[in-house]
Amino acid sequence: MSTPRDTQPLPPPVLELRGIRKSFGANAVLKGVDLSLRPGRITALLGANGAGKSTLIKALSGVHEPTSGEVLLDGAAVDLENPIAASRLGVRTVHQRIDDAIVPGLSVAENLVFEQIALGEAPTVASLTSLLPRARAVAAALSLDWDDAFLRQDVFELGIADCQMLLLARALVTDPKVLILDEPTSTLSQSEAERLFETIVALRERGVAILHVSHRLAEIDQLADDIVVLRDGRITATQERPFDFAAAVTSMLGEGATRDIERLEHLVGEQVALEIAGLRVFPESPAVSVSLRGGEVTGIVGLIGAGKTELAEYVFGESTGAEAGVMTLRGEPYTPRHPRDAIRRGVYLVPEDRAAQGMLPGWSIAKTFSLPFLSRFARGPLLQQGAETARAAQAIDDFGVVATGPGQTVDALSGGNQQKVMVARWMQTPPDVLLLDEPFRGVDIGARREIARRAREQAADGSCVVMLCSDVDELREIADRVLVLVEGRITLDARIDTVSDDEIVQSMTEVA
Ligand SMILES: Nc1ncnc2c1ncn2[C@@H]1O[C@H](COP(=O)(O)OP(=O)(O)OP(=O)(O)O)[C@@H](O)[C@H]1O
Ligand SMILES: [Mg+2]
Repeated sequence: MSTPRDTQPLPPPVLELRGIRKSFGANAVLKGVDLSLRPGRITALLGANGAGKSTLIKALSGVHEPTSGEVLLDGAAVDLENPIAASRLGVRTVHQRIDDAIVPGLSVAENLVFEQIALGEAPTVASLTSLLPRARAVAAALSLDWDDAFLRQDVFELGIADCQMLLLARALVTDPKVLILDEPTSTLSQSEAERLFETIVALRERGVAILHVSHRLAEIDQLADDIVVLRDGRITATQERPFDFAAAVTSMLGEGATRDIERLEHLVGEQVALEIAGLRVFPESPAVSVSLRGGEVTGIVGLIGAGKTELAEYVFGESTGAEAGVMTLRGEPYTPRHPRDAIRRGVYLVPEDRAAQGMLPGWSIAKTFSLPFLSRFARGPLLQQGAETARAAQAIDDFGVVATGPGQTVDALSGGNQQKVMVARWMQTPPDVLLLDEPFRGVDIGARREIARRAREQAADGSCVVMLCSDVDELREIADRVLVLVEGRITLDARIDTVSDDEIVQSMTEVA
């Protein structure tokens, strides 16, 4: 009979960090981190945006050289001098920024065995056909139903979820001892995340030591054997099961941050803000008509590919494949042909892929902040700069952005802090219609509550707030009304307090 995993003695660590420090110039990010990863265990790494999680992972995977400290593998000191050295030693990493790791212009198969190609261990890029058997085998081992057409396709065509799976698959091409995943689920839907979890659990069973970074507590509860909390460059707590999440959140954010989310006082909007009639979200989908009211938050849920983003882009004047319907905004005709038109009418969209859309490298937080509203503040450069800096400073404070100040460039911010800046940017002035596409993605719990609080406050002031998401828990934190979208059709429209999670999930998978 097998013993339950909690009562088994702990295996010795495969990877040990001792006193790891890392500074960028005068900015000390890691201040002496000790951490052990054990075979067959999943360690969840928690920490607020900017705590240093990705920096720690980069130090572990040979991207950054630690300023000081020691790394031991199977008890012996090692030098993880570069990513190839780390991967040779069996330490494999899927980094947070996936676009840096994908090689554009190459096929899926080539990206999959990229490292082997680079090391001369696989046929060259010129002979895609000769790579296919190897790529097929890797895909099959991971139960990915990738056919040859998919493997031959340019990675440019892939959605974000497939890119994420591709990078995981790449990390598993050679058997890893240690697998490090930096927020692998922040871009996935629930069902895609479940697929990823199956793979992670299978690797745990095979004795791989796994370090998993996530801001989603439910997911950590489902997967992790251990929790480690990083705060401001130091480990402030470690836990084994059963976890005390309230204590973990306190050591992550400090006292006072664990206030429960106030129970939603449900809002019921009286006035129609945006009326959409006869819209085909996809050319082949039926025409839908829907009225969105001011004074309440409407949550639109659906799986990836349901048409949420297309709908939002249509309303924001970034029309994609959506076939022209007729829109009315507060009773007046509304025909945005460009986001400029939408912004002028007070219709804002916080896009899903924030880093790619609207973040300019080298720009300060303050400049990034006022970019879409330039005409409004164009009253002479000096005046503008003062107002700009003041508003950015306020937002940095409200959303808890970890930054040196409004003048810091957006590139050096951690992933979650970049996202906070982009969400905060669209929440600085009262909108008429505010569309938030996956607003909680990658932000820590503190910012998540701030975003929810702001969205509800703006709705209470009469704005029409629309949140697009694929997670029912997230929906419940913010919405008054729920619309379920399946392939461009609305399969459920209800007050959120009248439907169960099961009913919502069922309507999300309803087929035509
Ligand atoms: N290359 C760099 N140069 C300068 N500063 C950096 C660099 N990389 C990271 N930092 C700083 O280090 C701090 C920690 O960033 P890191 O990306 O490790 O945070 P994180 O815990 O992963 O946050 P998130 O949850 O948002 O991903 C941030 O304040 C960031 O600005
Ligand atoms: Mg990070």
